[in-house]
Amino acid sequence: MKQIIFATYLVLAGLASAQNGSSNACNVTTQYLADPPYDNYFYSDCNVDAQVVVTSPLSSSNLSIIGPRVVVAWPAGNSGIAVFFAPQNGPNGTLAIELVNSTIGEPLSVYTNTDSNNDFPYVGVQGVLSFNSSAMLTVAILGSVRTIRDFTEGPSLLRPAIQDAINVTQYNNSGASYGRMWLDNTTESYFNLVPFENDNGTIAMNAQDRNVSFGAGFYHFEAYFNYPQLQQLTSQEVLNNASQGLIEQQPSQTTSLSFLSYSEKLLAGAWRFLTYFGRDSMISALLLEPVLSTGNASAMEAVIGAVLERINRTDGSVCHEETIGDYATYLNMQNNITGDNATAAIFTYPMIDTDYFLPILMDVYFSRYPDRIDPLLSTEAGLIDTTNENLTYAELALFNAQKIVNITTPFVDNQTVENLIHLKPSEVVGQWRDSTYGLGNGRIPFDVNCALVPAALRAISRLSQLGGIYPNTSSGTSVLTNYSNWASFAQESAITWEENTLSFFELNLTVSEASSRVNNFVNTATFYDGPTNNASLSTNSNDANGTITFYAIALNGSMSALEDDDLDTYSEPIPIMHTDTAFHLFLLNSTNTSSTAYAREHTRFLNSTANTILRAFPAGLVTPSGMVVANPALSNSDVLIANFTNSAYHGTVIWSWQLALMAEGLHRQLAVCNSSSSFTPAYCEDAYVYNATRAAYNVLWDNIEQNEAQLQSEVWSWTYDGNSEASNSTDSFTTVPLGSLPPPPGVSGGTESNVRQLWSLTFLAVRRDAEYA
Ligand SMILES: *[C@@H]1O[C@H](CO)[C@@H](O)[C@H](O)[C@H]1NC(C)=O
Ligand SMILES: *[C@@H]1O[C@H](CO)[C@@H](O)[C@H](O)[C@H]1NC(C)=O
Ligand SMILES: *[C@@H]1O[C@H](CO)[C@@H](O)[C@H](O)[C@H]1NC(C)=O
Ligand SMILES: *[C@@H]1O[C@H](CO)[C@@H](O)[C@H](O)[C@H]1NC(C)=O
Ligand SMILES: *[C@@H]1O[C@H](CO)[C@@H](O)[C@H](O)[C@H]1NC(C)=O
Ligand SMILES: *[C@@H]1O[C@H](CO)[C@@H](O)[C@H](O)[C@H]1NC(C)=O
Ligand SMILES: *[C@@H]1O[C@H](CO)[C@@H](O)[C@H](O)[C@H]1NC(C)=O
Ligand SMILES: *[C@@H]1O[C@H](CO)[C@@H](O)[C@H](O)[C@H]1NC(C)=O
Ligand SMILES: *[C@@H]1O[C@H](CO)[C@@H](O)[C@H](O)[C@H]1NC(C)=O
Ligand SMILES: *[C@@H]1O[C@H](CO)[C@@H](O)[C@H](O)[C@H]1NC(C)=O
Ligand SMILES: *[C@@H]1O[C@H](CO)[C@@H](O)[C@H](O)[C@H]1NC(C)=O
Ligand SMILES: *[C@@H]1O[C@H](CO)[C@@H](O)[C@H](O)[C@H]1NC(C)=O
Repeated sequence: MKQIIFATYLVLAGLASAQNGSSNACNVTTQYLADPPYDNYFYSDCNVDAQVVVTSPLSSSNLSIIGPRVVVAWPAGNSGIAVFFAPQNGPNGTLAIELVNSTIGEPLSVYTNTDSNNDFPYVGVQGVLSFNSSAMLTVAILGSVRTIRDFTEGPSLLRPAIQDAINVTQYNNSGASYGRMWLDNTTESYFNLVPFENDNGTIAMNAQDRNVSFGAGFYHFEAYFNYPQLQQLTSQEVLNNASQGLIEQQPSQTTSLSFLSYSEKLLAGAWRFLTYFGRDSMISALLLEPVLSTGNASAMEAVIGAVLERINRTDGSVCHEETIGDYATYLNMQNNITGDNATAAIFTYPMIDTDYFLPILMDVYFSRYPDRIDPLLSTEAGLIDTTNENLTYAELALFNAQKIVNITTPFVDNQTVENLIHLKPSEVVGQWRDSTYGLGNGRIPFDVNCALVPAALRAISRLSQLGGIYPNTSSGTSVLTNYSNWASFAQESAITWEENTLSFFELNLTVSEASSRVNNFVNTATFYDGPTNNASLSTNSNDANGTITFYAIALNGSMSALEDDDLDTYSEPIPIMHTDTAFHLFLLNSTNTSSTAYAREHTRFLNSTANTILRAFPAGLVTPSGMVVANPALSNSDVLIANFTNSAYHGTVIWSWQLALMAEGLHRQLAVCNSSSSFTPAYCEDAYVYNATRAAYNVLWDNIEQNEAQLQSEVWSWTYDGNSEASNSTDSFTTVPLGSLPPPPGVSGGTESNVRQLWSLTFLAVRRDAEYA
């Protein structure tokens, strides 16, 4: 099987501390991650945190997409610089570039210069670039990573308001400097290039066209800006005391976790998402919680604090993504926002799942550390989101809880499909499967309704019993202000949601119908023509009658169906097998119910989830390359089969954190049966279902261990070649990067993946439990 190899080396506690060993030394941490054709270099010290990505085309590269390029990305302001090179004479592919060790750095060192025109010194990185032939610097983008992404991911978009401010000037006699004043009229970014030990090194400038040309050889580059920096949490600071050993056991992952962790927030991914994302940081915190630091200035409080700080005070929504730095000023300018607000950060709220993760995470944290309630929640908001001035984190947490109580109460009163939680009317996405076809056009997602809502309501109930979180006096009789009643009201609401939602999504097929649908999938799909694995449908079905039970990824929920009064179409389940069942296993624990009807339903659900793991793809979810997050094989729909492909972002592809969530979800369900709690859920005593769950746990872990080389990347895929020389079907699967496959029809492709993603580091905390072997 072809593997995606990540070569790594690490240099920890570098030069300065080695020299004087003092505890206030400016410690240097560097990390190298090879991800051909991308070379990633991370550099952090007390002045700056930076990632440098050097791209040099390989002989196998698609030269219309991959060209010689250097990206420098800084978490501070989500800022960056990208410079694109081309061969001076010669076709694409002939110019190779490389970052090399030198007296300047190995390969990077810090750049600092306090001679700045504003309050902040110039900080950045420097090093030596090697060019194998004469070259041109054709395009430079200086400012925000978002501006760079508009160029690399959009249709080569360059914004005149940003590009026209670049000056190209002579620098240090023989060198050239690209400088740009940001739209804030205060911050400047610079990229300088000077011949280094290079006889051929003459730089010819064309200031008008903003390009420079130069001979082969070595060049010293400097990349820097003057903007307030974030405070990184070191590996020691990001992990709790019990987990410090991980620093030596998993140096690469803990160094990456530290690079993505700051006192103010955790970042979603490097280099494209070096900024706040609500869902990513909270899911990561929930999975990593056993190893993360707690208390003042800890990783857990960085996550919870960042979310509270960015809540919409008007409606209690949790922020999905922030826009900061130069790109915020750019967007404000487009919206004619001037004066004091011209450089204000922008916070967006398009998602419907993110609100619920907050009380769930607060409950996990404050239940264990009640002494942290007051210090964290008495924090004054407004430092980052200035519109939240004059509020405390406690008030913002209350607004969020009120929103949840408000929008979940109609279903408590009347359990209709209309009262389930829908995507926002103006959005086509709203939960983690946030690509256009991620939910198969469904608008009422499984994860939000069957798992996140009841889990959040239970959390609100427990938080109101902890005290010090929500007000202890009721003001008025509305459920939204009758806080003293929340402990029982939210608990009752949670039970109503938990016990009455799975049935909307449940689908049942006979084995013969399921077999014929899988056959149809194999005959129709353009990306798979291997065995159906239909025999497993008989052995891993839900009951003795051979019922195949699975749960829709979403319900249709489209307004047009409702307007036509066509409730059947409106409530139509989208028949995609999926891994969002893991949210239910991970977040809900059926010891909380006394209903025998629900106990039966929950047992059926657990059995079905285990069976979709025990059945090999395409009859189930598990391929030799990993468990796919969605599978259209039981859909009988050409449209779904054409869209949920092995090249769709949320199609038949593998996501690292979903593997961790499912593994830990199954583990929690098994652990309940071993616990000394007075109530034992029904499935614990159903040997068939308990054993299926335990077998699924082990099948999944065997599969995770087989795919260890991939686990730290965000998402990956596979190809199938039934004619390969290998005779068995396992060897016919090849693990491939998602970006290497042509995208499905109608979807723009070529999305570069992040070498490190926060939620792909969760196997630091999620481990196989030998007790269930
Ligand atoms: C620098 O590293 C040393 C050795 O790991 C550590 O003792 C010291 O506290 C660090 N200093 C700072 C300022 O982080
Ligand atoms: C050469 O590279 C440039 C920049 O990467 C690209 O725009 C162009 O399409 C490439 N030309 C060919 C023939 O691949
Ligand atoms: C560059 O220096 C680093 C740190 O000393 C070292 O680990 C690395 O192997 C060197 N790279 C090359 C290509 O020599
Ligand atoms: C660019 O050039 C203009 C005109 O000479 C000057 O006003 C501006 O300060 C320069 N900007 C930078 C960043 O050097
Ligand atoms: C920056 O200066 C320009 C020109 O004077 C002005 O139009 C713009 O409003 C200023 N921008 C900000 C954010 O102050
Ligand atoms: C100068 O250029 C020549 C021809 O391109 C090359 O062979 C030589 O290695 C270069 N010298 C340096 C110092 O890069
Ligand atoms: C905050 O919520 C209100 C009410 O839903 C909405 O009108 C407003 O646009 C939201 N704020 C932002 C910044 O999206
Ligand atoms: C901003 O102002 C310009 C000029 O007055 C106008 O054409 C444009 O529609 C405005 N944009 C927005 C988003 O209001
Ligand atoms: C800045 O934005 C805030 C919040 O939206 C608003 O209350 C205030 O009036 C704005 N200030 C200016 C000068 O436009
Ligand atoms: C916060 O209070 C101060 C003082 O009353 C006031 O000037 C400011 O506008 C308030 N900020 C917001 C965002 O309401
Ligand atoms: C939720 O808020 C809406 C709008 O403010 C209000 O009309 C409704 O009565 C509230 N629902 C509950 C259950 O309080
Ligand atoms: C529940 O909703 C349905 C459909 O909208 C309606 O027919 C029924 O009367 C409602 N029941 C109650 C108790 O409100």
